[in-house]
Amino acid sequence: LDNGVARTPPMGWNSWNTFGCNINESLIRGVADAMVNNGMRDAGYQYVVVDDCWMNPNRDSAGNLQGDPTRFPSGMKALGDYLHARGLKFGIYQAPLDKTCAQYFNSYPGATGSQGHEAQDARQFAAWGVDYLKYDWCSPSGSINDQVTTFAKMRDALASTGRPILYSINSNSIHAKTGPQRNWGDVANIWRTTEDITLAWDTGQTNGYPMGVKNIVDVTVPLAGYARPGAFNDPDMMEVGRGTLTETEQRSHFALWAIMASPLIAGNDVRSQSTTTRDILTNPRLIAINQDTLGLQGTQVSFDGTRRVLAKRLANGDVAVALFNQGGSTTTISTTAAAIGKSGSSFTLQDAWTGATSSSTGTISASVAAHGTAVLRVSGGGTNPTPTGSTLVSAASGRC
Ligand code: GLA
Repeated sequence: LDNGVARTPPMGWNSWNTFGCNINESLIRGVADAMVNNGMRDAGYQYVVVDDCWMNPNRDSAGNLQGDPTRFPSGMKALGDYLHARGLKFGIYQAPLDKTCAQYFNSYPGATGSQGHEAQDARQFAAWGVDYLKYDWCSPSGSINDQVTTFAKMRDALASTGRPILYSINSNSIHAKTGPQRNWGDVANIWRTTEDITLAWDTGQTNGYPMGVKNIVDVTVPLAGYARPGAFNDPDMMEVGRGTLTETEQRSHFALWAIMASPLIAGNDVRSQSTTTRDILTNPRLIAINQDTLGLQGTQVSFDGTRRVLAKRLANGDVAVALFNQGGSTTTISTTAAAIGKSGSSFTLQDAWTGATSSSTGTISASVAAHGTAVLRVSGGGTNPTPTGSTLVSAASGRC
């Protein structure tokens, strides 16, 4: 969406993965303070997104949305002011039909979705200083056309406020597979590609509920052709730092989100994270690959069912390569400079995890642990516009 925001994938934090409905203003303020103190803000994590369950279950007498008076006693504008004063941005959750997802599943009272209130709610968000709206379809019914019309209403309502507001949509809640069926870049800045992520590597789902990290990668890689500045596939919030996944899997998760030009939205409790988690989330070389100004999503160079190679061309002519081992034992994964769109015979490879460099005459190879991902930034030689062998889905119609 060409509304001036998300020229590179958004980075931030969202309350849902760890806290679900158990949120309040002191938690959000504490998270914001932690992000300032632990270096996340300065590494690029800007948006603090308050997910579902922030609302008063009733609108006021004029039909305006209100924050829950017990959870957010200072009001939503005060929360936005708190974040802005710390150099952060304010994100909030809402739903396009009658109910938010938590209201739909009865874990939160009320029915305060934006249906019929789009312009009023957009004005309210702008007045509170909202910078990011997560807008979540939460109903099993509705065709893709209904979704496009309904999501576009809020897109237009946000534009009418005059405030730049990043527009994040999810067409997938209880509605798997609608995300990948369409290039949503004419409607939103970021759009979810699957049902909700869960704290698992592989749930065996190809696109249903719940999705593991590896399953989401399988769905999102073929959508690379949709990504561009202002418009990115969203494989959901990260599970890094939440346990269950091994450290190798968490590193892989972060590396893959980075090379897929995915939003980097942390979902862990950043107030108490380990230094290992902080170092994964703030790796400057992986963040630079993710935030590259070309805004390209890494495309698939090869995949044999176990060894997956993705390549992402970067603005300075370098190409980032991910060597992802989806199998259950350590293996060597190899590609070549030619296959990733590089010409020439002398290259420097930088390991994005460690920063260590080595030279190559064209072979790009690493021994990769089970479920691991090596990332190498390849510089030197010339760069072709599109890596050979890449599998792009054709960008669907409907771009702005
Ligand atoms: C849906 C979304 C989640 C979260 C919840 C909140 O399931 O996909 O990311 O926002 O709703 O209820």
